[in-house]
Amino acid sequence: MRMILAGSSGRMGHELTSLAQTDPHLHIVACINSKSPLSCLKTQFLSDRDAFDILVDFSDQVCTNDLIQFADQCNKPMLVGTTGLTDSTMEKIRESSTKIPILVASNTSTAIALMHRLVEQAASLLGSTHQIGLEEVHHVHKKDAPSGTARSLARSMRIHCSAAPSDDQVTSIRRDDVPGTHTVSFTSGEDQLVIQHSAMSRSLFARGAIEMARWLVRMPPGLYGPEDWLEQAMNP
Ligand SMILES: NC(=O)c1ccc[n+]([C@@H]2O[C@H](COP(=O)([O-])OP(=O)(O)OC[C@H]3O[C@@H](n4cnc5c(N)ncnc54)[C@H](OP(=O)(O)O)[C@@H]3O)[C@@H](O)[C@H]2O)c1
Repeated sequence: MRMILAGSSGRMGHELTSLAQTDPHLHIVACINSKSPLSCLKTQFLSDRDAFDILVDFSDQVCTNDLIQFADQCNKPMLVGTTGLTDSTMEKIRESSTKIPILVASNTSTAIALMHRLVEQAASLLGSTHQIGLEEVHHVHKKDAPSGTARSLARSMRIHCSAAPSDDQVTSIRRDDVPGTHTVSFTSGEDQLVIQHSAMSRSLFARGAIEMARWLVRMPPGLYGPEDWLEQAMNP
């Protein structure tokens, strides 16, 4: 798989680059960052659209609009790992997804994809008898709060239970270099169920992103999430 990597000089960019160095089936054909922006390589790839298979974005939400437009013009799939996307960016993503496959994943950990399903089931069964808590802890450099993953967990639960927390009710903690911990608790006077995911290292997000990207390049145009990847992984 030949990938253009946006955000190559960042924390996630480094993880993806080191994975590519040990994976003979993964080639990073071009890198985008502040010093080497999209504008520098746009012309080259627009005139040779078959020089890459997918655009993977772990940059900053200010770049994502232009990257979507570029993927759309090249008619290539795009995996958006960048978080903090605005409503107008999401609107652009929806528009372009009628033409190209786009996967938006605020968290590319495969275990987090499963966590979404578990919390949905728990909210559906326990939502009327238990109080639901949602806490996220991340490193001090993280720009958005609550995290994209916490928002997405809350949204998933709200579909199944009206008492699920709103974004304002998420507890966000910024501490040291924590890669990301998400905890959902269901508490009654009689018991407590805790579903927690702790990332030990950022490499898991890179590994999951590559797994999801390999799936995405085979998909028809559409807007996908990690839950779509999970569905086929659990029912191959
Ligand atoms: N989906 C997931 O599982 C997951 C996991 C971790 C992080 N994330 C998200 O991924 C994004 C990146 O995270 P990170 O921790 O790697 O951030 P980071 O270390 O700050 O890296 C950001 C990258 O984006 C580039 N960039 C920023 N503004 C740019 C611009 N205007 N034009 C071109 N490139 C630009 C930076 O280039 P320079 O270095 O040249 O400035 C750098 O390469 C964030 O939104 C984060 O929340 C998602």
